[in-house]
Amino acid sequence: MKLDCSKHVFKIISEEAEIMGVRAYVIGGYVRDRILGRPSKDIDVVVEGDGPALARRVGARTGSHVAIFARFGTAMIHSEDGEEVEFVGARKESYSRDSRKPSVSRGTLRDDQLRRDFTINALSFSLQKEDMGEVYDPFNGLEDLRNGLIRTPLDPDTTFSDDPLRMVRAIRFATQLGFSIVPEALESIGRNRGRMAILSPERVSEELHKILMSPRPSVGFDLMDRTTLLELILPALSALKGVETQDGRGHKDNYRHTLQVVDNIVPHTDNLWLRWAALLHDIGKPATKRYEKGLGWTFHGHEVVGARMVYEVFKYLRMPLNEKMKYVQKLVLLHLRPIALVQEEVTDSAVRRLLFDAGDDIDDLMTLCEADITSKNDRTVARHLANFQLVRRKLQEVEEKDRIRNFQPPVTGEMIMQTYGIKPCREIGIIKECIKDAILDGRIPNDRDAALALMREKASELGLKESHDRYGFCANAEKLLSDA
Ligand code: CTP
Repeated sequence: MKLDCSKHVFKIISEEAEIMGVRAYVIGGYVRDRILGRPSKDIDVVVEGDGPALARRVGARTGSHVAIFARFGTAMIHSEDGEEVEFVGARKESYSRDSRKPSVSRGTLRDDQLRRDFTINALSFSLQKEDMGEVYDPFNGLEDLRNGLIRTPLDPDTTFSDDPLRMVRAIRFATQLGFSIVPEALESIGRNRGRMAILSPERVSEELHKILMSPRPSVGFDLMDRTTLLELILPALSALKGVETQDGRGHKDNYRHTLQVVDNIVPHTDNLWLRWAALLHDIGKPATKRYEKGLGWTFHGHEVVGARMVYEVFKYLRMPLNEKMKYVQKLVLLHLRPIALVQEEVTDSAVRRLLFDAGDDIDDLMTLCEADITSKNDRTVARHLANFQLVRRKLQEVEEKDRIRNFQPPVTGEMIMQTYGIKPCREIGIIKECIKDAILDGRIPNDRDAALALMREKASELGLKESHDRYGFCANAEKLLSDA
């Protein structure tokens, strides 16, 4: 097989390699994706010789800055099409048992291909003038690509033990590409699970992100479960498995339900963090599960416990403990709220409160709730979806009227402190809460005058007096407001 190599940078690499008297090949993911017709990103070039030296020459020819990573023996330039082209000398590697850090010596293309993770990732093509674009495939990677198989070039125990992340990568590629992992590799993952201990959680969570961004993430989580990696990587998800029965009554399998919710949400969002929220929305269920006579199985407060557990999961996987995590927590915490707004007689106040609590994430919350419908009965699904349509309409009507979504309190703590000459104290919180409640309950309109009047009323109830500063002026609230 020969691939088209008309790309300018390939021609330059080819010419410079010839001048240096070394052989260069494109290898790995770029080759795989080109053959699969997937958008191909970064280009890895392996050189039978000095990779960074070739990069320097190519950089000089194309005018690209050359970044040298001396510690890794690699160098990188940018192609004119904006790809990152990374150069490395072909290596022969052997790994020690207790670390991911290999000892490296120079090798041939074949040595380099042999130490790659999967046959489909060991494919390379030539950049030599005489056979430009010719695919070098010593391990039948092309056939595995055609048959949709993930297979290691070496005995899987060796490949996985060398870098245990490859066990998760195998599962990730299977999920992303819709491929199968060959049975001997699948069994090897189970055997080598102990090696996971040397991995940094950041690398694992990168793979989880890619699984979640795949067309059917459930495939990946099921493979993790089958190979027993799930209980190591995401024990909170693994704990959702199973059904308990009492008095002949069982609850649904929250693990299966969760995976279905994640698959359901895929066509509706490319937001990774919303997909994480789908994955974690019920993780509070095992801790809150009760069997109550007459009622059956309940999971009271699982959304509150779940939101707290989101922090634990993020911390465990060393994912960012920032606004992304808070967003996931918020969606987990609120995921039961929209269903409560389904009844006909629901008040505007309840709708306003949800708009206030969800803010700009209200649409994402509704997307999550719709994905959360997993009944096998199409009529039931259609009924729930219609109900959520109704909720969406109510949310829209109330938002148009009251503009609660980006609610900013018309009176701030600062204003209250200045008006009454007080320092931070309980009373400020009481006044602010009272104004917020009055607006959300529709007792006063969402505007400054009404909020100020209520501030005065409440402050006088609390025994506060408006302060006059040392020049004798009253630092009145209207002035502060017009400054604000
Ligand atoms: N590789 C490997 N073992 C790893 C990681 C990577 O053997 N643990 C090799 C594979 O040949 C892979 C190449 O390095 O194709 C590039 O790795 P990377 O950029 O991480 O993956 P890609 O295969 O390019 O796929 P993706 O960009 O989707 O991660």
